[in-house]
Amino acid sequence: MGNLAQRVAQAADLVTVALDELLPRADGPEGRLTEAMRYAALGPGKRLRTFFAIETGKMFDAPDRSVLRAACALECIHAYSLIHDDLPCMDDDDVRRGRATTHKAYDEATAVLAGDALQTAAFEILAHPDTHSDGAIRAELVMRLAQASGAKGMAGGQMIDVLGVRDDLGGVARMQRLKTGALIACAFELPLVLARAKDSERHAMMAFAHDLGLAYQIVDDLLDAEGDAASLGKAVAKDADKGKANFVTLLGVEAARERLTLLSTQTKAHLEPFGAAAEFLRASVDFVLERRN
Ligand code: IPE
Ligand code: IPE
Ligand code: MG
Ligand code: MG
Ligand code: MG
Repeated sequence: MGNLAQRVAQAADLVTVALDELLPRADGPEGRLTEAMRYAALGPGKRLRTFFAIETGKMFDAPDRSVLRAACALECIHAYSLIHDDLPCMDDDDVRRGRATTHKAYDEATAVLAGDALQTAAFEILAHPDTHSDGAIRAELVMRLAQASGAKGMAGGQMIDVLGVRDDLGGVARMQRLKTGALIACAFELPLVLARAKDSERHAMMAFAHDLGLAYQIVDDLLDAEGDAASLGKAVAKDADKGKANFVTLLGVEAARERLTLLSTQTKAHLEPFGAAAEFLRASVDFVLERRN
């Protein structure tokens, strides 16, 4: 589906333009902070969460502008998580998205602050009346994003990762659900809140999102094992070098691939109730599985 790559690129462009307008600029010493925030958030990411949010919004007829703002909030949290993930106290990486990580391009203190301020920017965007006229909807968006990024979501998963406390597949799967799965699921959840989708629709979409997030992480682990730093734009073999278990170190490359094939069918099956309306989301499963960076 050649069309899909185009749709992903379109969604990425929309969000980059919107984020450029939404992110603060400042004169004076705080200008260094707003520049670092822009460096991290407007850099050349795949913006996959954005694509998921925008496609889901279209599928459920959520208001376009609201979905776009929600997608911007997701990208702010994602960018913040990557800035902090790359810091010397965490993964200690120098290269991200093919260029210097934020603490290398600026300095560690600026990077920590840029992460902090991107996180709060995300909630400011969601809570702003321009996101939705109904305050209850805005509050629900804020709550869902907070849950996905906090102690029981991304930050909690990062804690498990840093501690290295997992030695079996169950442990790795649990870490993944929190570390990357929660924010990916949120990309589907926010537009469903905006569309006031039915519970049955939400359940089917969340089951889809969880399987897709898992597939995404297995691919990330395969790329970490087999990809090259030049095309990935970040260091590789990090997990194995540090003796950290992930899906590929535990299963091996072949079994991880087999698992992905099964997972692909299972993931798409969740979209059955939506028929042709889910065409692009169905194709995006293959897109995630075939990604090379
Ligand atoms: C990288 O996320 C970290 C993980 C959650 C696996 P992405 O693969 O979405 O990174 P960018 O945004 O495209 O750089
Ligand atoms: C990072 O996971 C996930 C978050 C930032 C929440 P990784 O450490 O595996 O991501 P990469 O490989 O550095 O992109
Ligand atoms: Mg990490
Ligand atoms: Mg990392
Ligand atoms: Mg990784």
